[in-house]
Amino acid sequence: MSAVPARPTFEHHREPLGTGEPCPRISFRTTAPAGWLPAAHEFEITRGGATESTGRTATPDSVLLPWPWAPLRSRERASVRVRVWGAGEEDPSGWSEPAAVEAGLLLPEDWRAAAVGPAWPEDPDSDRRPPLLRRSFVLDRPVRSARLYASAHGLFRLEVNGRRVGTDELAPGWTVYPQRLRYSTHDVTDLLREGGNAIGSWLADGWFRGRIGFDGGYRNLYGTDLALIAQLHVTFDDGTEAVLATDGHWRAAHGPILFSGLYEGERYDARELPHGWSEPGFDDSAWTPVRSAPVDASRLVAPTGPPVRCTQELEPVRVEPRGEGRFLLDFGQNAAGRLRIRVSGEAGRVVTLTHAEVLEDGELCTRPLREAESRDTYVLRGGGTEEWEPAFTIHGFRYAQVEGWPGETLQPGDVVFRVLHTDLERTGWFSCSDPLVERLHENVVWSTRSNFVDIPTDCPQRDERLGWTGDIQVFAPTAAFLFDVTGMLSSWLRDVEAEQLEDGTVPWYVPVIPGGEEWTPIRPGAVWGDVVVLTPWTLFERTGDLGLLAAQYGSARRWVDLVERLAGPSRLWNSGFQLGDWLDPAAPPEDPADARTDRHLVATAYFAWSARHLAETARILGEDGDAEHYAELAEEVREAFLAEHVRPDGRLTSDAQTAYALAIRFGLVSGEEQQAAGARLAELVRDAGNRIATGFAGTPVICDALTQTGHVEEAYALLLERGCPSWLYTVLSGATTIWERWDSLLPDGTVNPGGMTSFNHYALGAVADWLHRVVAGLAPDAPGYRSILFHPRPGDGITSATARHETPYGTASVSWTLAAGHFTVTVQVPTGATGRVVLPDGRTEFVGSGAHRFTAACASGAGRRHVEVPGRG
Ligand code: BGC
Repeated sequence: MSAVPARPTFEHHREPLGTGEPCPRISFRTTAPAGWLPAAHEFEITRGGATESTGRTATPDSVLLPWPWAPLRSRERASVRVRVWGAGEEDPSGWSEPAAVEAGLLLPEDWRAAAVGPAWPEDPDSDRRPPLLRRSFVLDRPVRSARLYASAHGLFRLEVNGRRVGTDELAPGWTVYPQRLRYSTHDVTDLLREGGNAIGSWLADGWFRGRIGFDGGYRNLYGTDLALIAQLHVTFDDGTEAVLATDGHWRAAHGPILFSGLYEGERYDARELPHGWSEPGFDDSAWTPVRSAPVDASRLVAPTGPPVRCTQELEPVRVEPRGEGRFLLDFGQNAAGRLRIRVSGEAGRVVTLTHAEVLEDGELCTRPLREAESRDTYVLRGGGTEEWEPAFTIHGFRYAQVEGWPGETLQPGDVVFRVLHTDLERTGWFSCSDPLVERLHENVVWSTRSNFVDIPTDCPQRDERLGWTGDIQVFAPTAAFLFDVTGMLSSWLRDVEAEQLEDGTVPWYVPVIPGGEEWTPIRPGAVWGDVVVLTPWTLFERTGDLGLLAAQYGSARRWVDLVERLAGPSRLWNSGFQLGDWLDPAAPPEDPADARTDRHLVATAYFAWSARHLAETARILGEDGDAEHYAELAEEVREAFLAEHVRPDGRLTSDAQTAYALAIRFGLVSGEEQQAAGARLAELVRDAGNRIATGFAGTPVICDALTQTGHVEEAYALLLERGCPSWLYTVLSGATTIWERWDSLLPDGTVNPGGMTSFNHYALGAVADWLHRVVAGLAPDAPGYRSILFHPRPGDGITSATARHETPYGTASVSWTLAAGHFTVTVQVPTGATGRVVLPDGRTEFVGSGAHRFTAACASGAGRRHVEVPGRG
């Protein structure tokens, strides 16, 4: 038997502990010889010592299959394996490796923990000093296994018997806490012992009560009191169980953290660390009893994706001593994270770490951080080597300044950049013959990593880091290729729905923080609000997850219904606050929404696009009446758009690139009108000297619009342009991430003076989706890549490209080269999927699983460039 099924997976969560789903859907991939067709599978579950099988189930499906047994009970652990039959085969394959799945605390009644925190008085308007909490306890029998379920008001980190629990950072992440507070599950079996034990927790302000938001931000967003909510379940060797939950028996004291803020940084005095505080022998009689409050356990939810972790460590590529213990460090890469220092010096010495994305006049340029101070301070304990990394803050930076260092030099390992973000599995890769484009793509990957920090953020460094809905709406297709983002984004979409108003209004960022007098995030706006329709659709398209589509359907519908009401019988969304083609490079720095394309044109185009996607969503979900209604609505909006925005001469009312790109890409113009729009778009691109002339709305669609209307050479010319503004201008300026503004760094090398100048925003990197689908030519042709479209469109300047993606069925890849008009492509189709290969000479080939090679004549692509990429550092 030649087919080999891999160990099954559950939902979109790769970590087996603590699923919140009593009936987690099961997926599995199979490796088999080319052309092998799946026909049936059998699942076997072992739980509580008993084994149960589904028997042979005749279906070729292998993705997100319904759980076939009785639901998991709280804390129940099971092991599942699978075997498969190919078409016409009588004998099954061997069994896969077994996969463990373990339920978390599924019912509110399972929770006994109270929310416990310090009882001392605090001034809620001041910088407060975070506490430590602890409790000792005795286990009178040998331990077989133990789980710790925990969450907090504020950020937390646990220790058991002096050792850290888990590796997750910034737990419990950021959700709409009053409705959804995430808890984590840890296996602490190896940390416990028979006899005396202790458990301790650090707490810090984080998103719960720290200062969040621009223009000074807000404190105490969710409350004023930090608290831990934790529950330890111990199973002894003899089968008996014990539960230790946070309650009034815990004790609190100040710890070594003097202050910690996500924006501000952390201040830590190592002399204040009570030695052995999370170990059993510690005398906590001087600690104070905790305040204890009941918990509404119905809002405690299990994670659906991975936590934030340190995923990489970077050493500086350049260290410049500046005298008197001051050093300037360049890590060669902009990213999100923090520094770990290893230092020895006298007690009381203060080492300060300041962070920035760029330099100006050879020093850190911190102006773009606005009110995010991003400074960490460590006071040495003295008497040996000390290692420290702040625990509850995060910065976006490439450069750092160290002050107060004891000594003249820094050794490797003394100051290390710990890169932090949601620990997403990488699923997509791209390469091509142009090293500048490869660097651009690498910059997109780094901006993805930097901005998937529990929620999808706009930027990781200044006083925002908010879940701006428009940014992820345009970037989700790229992100979903590069990383397995579905678990994380499906959780965030629940929060979007939680924050959505009854009338359908989608806030500009989620979770919401209140606006000020000049700005409220709670009002409807196109592009941003459309996230509730378009992002579930993107995830469905990439994963085939119907459940996700169904879960978000109500939210999506409320949005389109709202826009329908706002537009009224005209079907034109011509009113209200809109940001339109935000950050069109022609917009004045002080008004980034003042773009060449009319913002109401953008709004109506998006209205049609969302209505059309909602119609399709309804059709797939079997909501036939809705499907018909929204399809009609989409058509009416399209007609209204044409009547309002297409002039008799065929030009659009905004004779601008974004306007044509949206009209083409969103299917608002068709036939000859579409060709005319494409021709005008190509002309505008040429007239602009291939410099970028689009913002948030136009940039993600312009290359597709050009390609779709037969102007692929103009799309390549845009991609490969190097003058300002362009994608490669940023690369040639030394960018290691995608910038917020096309000219965040001005051509004279100075930092853009605008108040909104980030060097790490992913939105304008949405072009990478076009690199994957069109340049390399790898795209879903049916939901979840069950059918894969391989349609590379070579263009002048690139002579080879490859893309690889871990689809739900396994690895798909494409690799092509072009030499002297001779095109060669190899595609790889995973087992269970099929491929449609469209060649440059117009031929279409249908293929099954396995590797396939084709050649064709091709007129395009002269390979005119070869350039050096600016080195790191
Ligand atoms: C954010 C953006 C966001 C925009 C909208 C900015 O400050 O960083 O990325 O989408 O505001 O107003």
